[in-house]
Amino acid sequence: MAMMKGACVVMLWAGATFAQNSTAAIAATGTNFTLTAEGMSYLFHVDTDSGDLVSDHFGGPTTDFTPPANILPWGWNDELSNFRREFPDVGRSDFRLPAIHIEHADGDTVSAFRYRSHDITQGKPSIPGLPATYGGDGDVTTLIVQLYDNVSDVSAALSYSVFPKYNAIARSFSITNHGSTNGSGAIVIEQAHSFSTDFPHVDLEMIEPHGDWSHEFQTVRRKIDYGETSFGSKAGYASHQHNPFFALVSPSTTESSGEAWGFNLVWTGSFEATAEKFSNGYVRVLLGLNSLHTSIRVEPGETFQAPEAVAVYSSEGVGGLSRSFHDLYRSHLSRSKFTKETRPILLNSWEGLGFDINETSLVNLAGEAEELGIELFVNDDGWFGVEYPRNNDSLGLGDWTPNPAKFPNGLAPYVQAVNNFTVLNASKPLQFGIWVEPEMVNPNSTLYREHPDWVLRAGKHQRTLTRNQLVLNVGLPEVQDFIIGFVSRILDSANIQYVKWDNNRGMHELSHPSDDYDYILGLYRVIDNLTTRYPNVLWEGCASGGGRFDPGLLHYWPQHWTSDNTDAANRLTIQMGTSLVYPPSAMGCHISATPNGLTNRNISIEYRGHVALMCGSFGLELNPSELSPEEASAVPSIMAQAERVNPVVITGSFFRLAHPDKSNWPGVQFVSHDGSQAVVFAFQQQYVVKPAPPPLRLAGLDPRARYSNDLDNSTYSGATYMNGGLNIAWPRGDYQSKLIWLAKV
Ligand SMILES: *[C@@H]1O[C@H](CO)[C@@H](O)[C@H](O)[C@H]1NC(C)=O
Ligand SMILES: *[C@@H]1O[C@H](CO)[C@@H](O)[C@H](O)[C@H]1NC(C)=O
Ligand SMILES: *[C@@H]1O[C@H](CO)[C@@H](O)[C@H](O)[C@H]1NC(C)=O
Ligand SMILES: *[C@@H]1O[C@H](CO)[C@@H](O)[C@H](O)[C@H]1NC(C)=O
Ligand SMILES: *[C@@H]1O[C@H](CO)[C@@H](O)[C@H](O)[C@H]1NC(C)=O
Ligand SMILES: *[C@@H]1O[C@H](CO)[C@@H](O)[C@H](O)[C@H]1NC(C)=O
Ligand SMILES: *[C@@H]1O[C@H](CO)[C@@H](O)[C@H](O)[C@H]1NC(C)=O
Ligand SMILES: *[C@@H]1O[C@H](CO)[C@@H](O)[C@H](O)[C@H]1NC(C)=O
Ligand SMILES: *[C@@H]1O[C@H](CO)[C@@H](O)[C@H](O)[C@H]1NC(C)=O
Ligand SMILES: *[C@@H]1O[C@H](CO)[C@@H](O)[C@H](O)[C@H]1NC(C)=O
Ligand SMILES: *[C@@H]1O[C@H](CO)[C@@H](O)[C@H](O)[C@H]1NC(C)=O
Ligand SMILES: *[C@@H]1O[C@H](CO)[C@@H](O)[C@H](O)[C@H]1NC(C)=O
Repeated sequence: MAMMKGACVVMLWAGATFAQNSTAAIAATGTNFTLTAEGMSYLFHVDTDSGDLVSDHFGGPTTDFTPPANILPWGWNDELSNFRREFPDVGRSDFRLPAIHIEHADGDTVSAFRYRSHDITQGKPSIPGLPATYGGDGDVTTLIVQLYDNVSDVSAALSYSVFPKYNAIARSFSITNHGSTNGSGAIVIEQAHSFSTDFPHVDLEMIEPHGDWSHEFQTVRRKIDYGETSFGSKAGYASHQHNPFFALVSPSTTESSGEAWGFNLVWTGSFEATAEKFSNGYVRVLLGLNSLHTSIRVEPGETFQAPEAVAVYSSEGVGGLSRSFHDLYRSHLSRSKFTKETRPILLNSWEGLGFDINETSLVNLAGEAEELGIELFVNDDGWFGVEYPRNNDSLGLGDWTPNPAKFPNGLAPYVQAVNNFTVLNASKPLQFGIWVEPEMVNPNSTLYREHPDWVLRAGKHQRTLTRNQLVLNVGLPEVQDFIIGFVSRILDSANIQYVKWDNNRGMHELSHPSDDYDYILGLYRVIDNLTTRYPNVLWEGCASGGGRFDPGLLHYWPQHWTSDNTDAANRLTIQMGTSLVYPPSAMGCHISATPNGLTNRNISIEYRGHVALMCGSFGLELNPSELSPEEASAVPSIMAQAERVNPVVITGSFFRLAHPDKSNWPGVQFVSHDGSQAVVFAFQQQYVVKPAPPPLRLAGLDPRARYSNDLDNSTYSGATYMNGGLNIAWPRGDYQSKLIWLAKV
């Protein structure tokens, strides 16, 4: 690892005006820093008078430092309020929100972080105990700027890692308390925003996800106006209501053109996101821990570590932004060996059997699954609990021993019986997977009887039940060891190849705001341990659907259940929204029974299949014996399509062609990694007499190459598909769909 220290002139590239690849990613001229990607520059410098870090540029490629806007330095907001700042602290004349807010040992909350030194290194150091992007010397370059507050004897290390291929920058910081070690010198971190930068006076709009259970990832676009535009989660997790992601765009930006900046926090706990437009028009962007769940005490000699935030710039609209995140996350965030592998087609027992399970009924269901071409059979809730058998959701959670009445011989022979089925038309055994919800406990359980002090609680306040359950305090080492212990025992007890890790409620009573931070660090310790020890297990996250679809968990687990809402029409909007930042290859999507249990809507199995096929982990969540004859006869062709589509979804590029909120004829497209083929999913929501459906204009093709299609069995140029588009002859009826293949000829 080449390390260049200090305030000398460091030119890492050979002659080029801006970088062609990552070896040219970071340059320091004096203390002027230029971070360069293939289509993006990020510039900031040290103000030599104050020692403050000043933002210069984040956007398309630039090569020079230019003087800042000339702002009249009079009035109440003089000095720092008129600087564009990289790491704003509290006090000292900046009246905007800070990136860092510390209560010092003596009780004051003013900080004065001044530049001290910097290092530039190839590659990217990992962040101990936290999920983060990663990459080798050729992929990423890192700049660490050391700052010091000489009044409080506190230092900050601010880290920037640039991934040139993806126009991406990962940022984080740590704070070290060098103060007195006599016990009275603790500081308290009250606010920590991992990403902070100040845009100049330009018009911006924010695109942000919002939603609820079964209604995840709806999106809203609104103008950034004077004051604060903000949202966040206080649920202890990323939550269904919001996600630690937002994009800023120019007012003219569309799906396929214009400037867009995306920000995503690699964190599973409470967060907050803010764009603050000040009187001078500057827009401060902040993304970090939610300050209601911070107040983190740092003793003398200790260091606080903020999670990482990732920012991506695109000059190719919101779609370009999404594709950079997808590619970055598949290659440099998610570390599972399955991330770039096709996933087995699964059937989950929940919709079919619910809690009413035993070895016999499950093996029968597995047999029916086998006849459909299923490759992985998943046993959902209900299999555990001895003193408190898990026959419904009021008891047993926490007691992770197979129920002896349901599984008289334990899991091993049952799993063997499942494995004894051979996947249809293949010579491989049917795989087995299991459901767990390790972070929770029912008061009706042996675990709670023995360890009532293991749950999150606040003194004498009542412990609020949700779904009859309480949250274990995963910040406690003994709880972490308990989870590591029982999950390992289950995985060692039988041939289990998949785990669905569920989490079904928010955190209510915290004894201290920082319990959330400690909990999430504890959770990462547990998951890091288990995924390291069981790398061949396919792990899927779930939190009543997409409540924890966040990049922190995606670091360890390759996939997440997208929503408990499996109505295919609703799912289209939810999956499109999720794809703003997370790759479709990481989404779990299943065909469920009709009419839909949640919406009572009837949608054909073809349409339901097409929506579910758009995701990396495809499966069925229904009782095969309840399929109608028409549905049963459609299943083989859907299964055959799944085999063909999945590799393109896993490694290809994703394009949103038309959004269901804006068009009655939504569509998406994947282009295979090598560009040789593309698959289009097109939908008609309602049948209408007039107007005519618009042509479906494709994307991401080589304009000069020619591609055959299986819609009208013709061959056209990429330019024709992209500029002219395909006219689909939609049949009468609501909820129609088409799957169209293109092949380069
Ligand atoms: C990056 O560019 C340099 C100089 O042009 C070249 O020597 C090097 O091979 C390139 N590296 C990669 C990974 O493309
Ligand atoms: C750094 O940039 C500033 C403009 O922001 C410029 O005045 C100064 O000369 C630059 N310093 C060096 C060492 O290039
Ligand atoms: C801290 O550093 C500043 C700037 O170098 C200096 O003016 C000030 O006297 C220092 N204060 C202390 C307490 O050392
Ligand atoms: C403890 O530290 C505080 C703050 O630095 C200092 O004022 C005090 O004198 C120290 N007390 C002892 C016993 O060293
Ligand atoms: C298993 O469950 C099924 C369905 O509820 C039931 O009919 C059967 O008797 C059960 N078998 C055993 C051995 O408990
Ligand atoms: C299995 O093979 C049969 C006979 O070739 C074929 O009709 C069927 O579609 C195949 N099913 C799957 C799921 O591949
Ligand atoms: C839940 O299951 C337990 C144990 O079988 C049973 O006693 C209880 O009545 C059930 N509760 C509900 C609400 O069905
Ligand atoms: C599974 O198949 C093996 C080998 O054919 C056989 O020995 C075993 O009894 C079967 N196990 C079950 C539970 O069906
Ligand atoms: C405990 O289980 C019983 C039986 O299902 C149920 O009636 C009761 O509500 C449960 N208690 C709690 C606290 O969930
Ligand atoms: C996982 O945790 C267990 C128990 O705490 C420990 O013995 C083991 O070394 C850990 N393994 C890894 C890979 O972290
Ligand atoms: C859905 O289809 C079923 C079976 O054809 C029919 O009985 C039911 O009325 C339909 N429901 C709705 C809401 O259209
Ligand atoms: C295209 O070819 C397929 C397979 O040969 C055939 O089933 C289909 O009817 C053809 N479609 C058109 C529009 O000609």
